[in-house]
Amino acid sequence: MTNANAASEAISPAGQTRVWDPLIRIFHWSLVIAFTANALFVEGDSKIHLWIGYFVAGAVAFRIVWGFIGTKYARFSNFPPNLKGASEQVMEIASNRKRLHMGHTPLGALMIYNLLLTLIVIAASGYLMTTDAYWGVRWMEELHEAAVFWAEFSVALHIAAVIFESLRLKVNLPKAMVTGVKEFRN
Ligand code: HEM
Ligand code: HEM
Repeated sequence: MTNANAASEAISPAGQTRVWDPLIRIFHWSLVIAFTANALFVEGDSKIHLWIGYFVAGAVAFRIVWGFIGTKYARFSNFPPNLKGASEQVMEIASNRKRLHMGHTPLGALMIYNLLLTLIVIAASGYLMTTDAYWGVRWMEELHEAAVFWAEFSVALHIAAVIFESLRLKVNLPKAMVTGVKEFRN
């Protein structure tokens, strides 16, 4: 049986809770577009690659600030890195126990920290490639590309996890990232 882990949360009779504020949603979907463009479509040595890359860096900087001063579910304090919680979640999934989370789950939180940190490494190494500080050191380019590869792998896992949990818990998580509202059905 489903056990909403936040009995005190305001869930409407239809089982709806507003979780993602508009800025989080704009952040997420513009990051999806910008990341995909640079990773798959735009040449690394073009001007537009650098502008898109700066945009990603700015978006991540915004997200970090918003993690401290933003709305309830956007705050890092709402989804702290929690290895114990993450391993409990693995056990829940393994035994097909269903527990609904209003905001990010512990495993989801680990993925978010991983993605944000990886995007910082991508943007910093990309920027250093364009400055004197780079001095043609080959490993900066290798770092940039390795971090992009890690981000692509992580994104594939992120998308698979989102689809898996949406089907398992009967909560349309991608839709919630569009509308801001999580709809819980029993
Ligand atoms: C989401 C962020 C980014 C992604 C996904 C990304 C992805 C990539 C990929 C896949 C390559 C290698 C393929 C190619 O050369 O076409 C590359 C190369 C490169 N990137 Fe990025 N990048 C990002 C951000 C940045 C930023 C912020 C900068 C600089 C301000 C930057 C500068 C460069 C440079 C200078 C190259 C090497 C170009 C060359 O000489 O071939 N990138 N990037
Ligand atoms: C079509 C592809 C994608 C879908 C359907 C998707 C879906 C989602 C969903 C549903 C969430 C919320 C998870 C939850 O309920 O806890 C989320 C969060 C997140 N996703 Fe994605 N995602 C996609 C691609 C990406 C990409 C390409 C990136 C970055 C490179 C990314 C980075 C993030 C981040 C950073 C968060 C945390 C949001 C926040 O609190 O700021 N996602 N994604």
